Amino acid sequence: MTKKLKIAVIGVGVMGRPHARDVNDLPQTQLVAICDIDRAQADAVAAQFGVAAYNDYRELLAKANLDGIIVATPHYDHTPISIDALARGVHVLVEKPIAVHTKDARKMIEAYESAKAKYPALVFSAMFMQRTYGFWRKVKDLIDSGELGKLVRTTWIITDWFRPQVYYDSGGWRATWAGEGGGVLLNQCPHNLDLYQWFVGMPNRVTGFTAIGKYHHIEVEDEVTAYFEYNNGMVGHFITTTAESPGSNRLEIVGEKGKLIFENGKLTFYRNRQSMFKFIKEATGSFDKVENWVAEIPFQYHDQPGHKHIIENFANAILHGETLIAPAVEGINSVMLGNAIMLSSFLNQTVDLPIDEDAYEEKLQELIKGSKFHKTKHSVKTSDADLDKSFST
Ligand SMILES: NC(=O)c1ccc[n+]([C@@H]2O[C@H](COP(=O)([O-])OP(=O)(O)OC[C@H]3O[C@@H](n4cnc5c(N)ncnc54)[C@H](O)[C@@H]3O)[C@@H](O)[C@H]2O)c1
Repeated sequence: MTKKLKIAVIGVGVMGRPHARDVNDLPQTQLVAICDIDRAQADAVAAQFGVAAYNDYRELLAKANLDGIIVATPHYDHTPISIDALARGVHVLVEKPIAVHTKDARKMIEAYESAKAKYPALVFSAMFMQRTYGFWRKVKDLIDSGELGKLVRTTWIITDWFRPQVYYDSGGWRATWAGEGGGVLLNQCPHNLDLYQWFVGMPNRVTGFTAIGKYHHIEVEDEVTAYFEYNNGMVGHFITTTAESPGSNRLEIVGEKGKLIFENGKLTFYRNRQSMFKFIKEATGSFDKVENWVAEIPFQYHDQPGHKHIIENFANAILHGETLIAPAVEGINSVMLGNAIMLSSFLNQTVDLPIDEDAYEEKLQELIKGSKFHKTKHSVKTSDADLDKSFST
């Protein structure tokens, strides 16, 4: 039998607890320790699985004999914990977003690159489990195989992240500049921003319009409209909020060879019989349109929410060199998109990518100074919630 990887979960709140269960259940992994700064929480979860409890991640890294860790703490702590673990040659699977801002994300990637000189097989993965979903894999497949031809426009209306005020009033680090580092772009949308760049790549210019606490008593953004421009001519739109009920999850990707739409769990392809660009040049009638055929695109069934697949892939990458589904180094892109939208909105102007990272961090520090959140051992935890209900799609 192959050896089981010794894994610890750091941060066992709403998300870390199911991760601990999955690590315990998977044949490739063995849960060996729990770490949480909330002593009662760490003890309770550790007792449930009969493993060691730690309250300080540094002590865990120094004392426990680990192959890997899963980081499921609030966002700011993703950076120091990942960096310290990677420097010791411990494999890391970090929750989304990998960091609050690109400077922190860059530090993590640099730490990984330099640790690899000493530990060449080191694995650094991110919890972007929506990359395992059948319909998203099919969207990626259709784009990559050239089925849509040259892309013209990508529009994502992702407004089914509705949260009432009581969600924000549950306290803790959420929806504060000092505790969380942002609002809907940093908490709910990292998955969508990651998928967006996975499908169609990064834009060259970003214009963002955001509203801070427009529908909720919060200090971060709860409504966002962004416009993305690409040097190749494609444009993109990203629209999100936590204040629309019923919300939408509609993705439209338009290329010269047709239009792909995902909505209500269905993937529909309007396939042009000929290139739209060629038709624009050659059509003889003023109101002629390209003939198109409509197809409902089948995709493979996938488990949701799918965290276990990412943990399994992380383990298989360590054990057998399996290709990572979501390498953590790609996690900087969704952070960059979120930061760019906010920076553009703060400056009231279009920003080029990569953004001025110092300017964004400076603005963030200013917001942190005015934040109502002050970190104590008991303020970092949010009240328990039904995790399954928290997911869109
Ligand atoms: N991938 C997903 O689908 C998904 C879903 C929910 C949350 N998340 C992510 O998981 C992470 C945690 O979110 P949550 O909802 O579980 O939060 P939570 O507040 O419920 O839990 C966080 C836990 O971390 C502990 N903690 C805080 N600082 C710590 C530190 N330095 N060391 C050890 N423990 C520490 C807290 O005491 C708490 O128990 C966030 O990054 C969040 O974005 C991901």
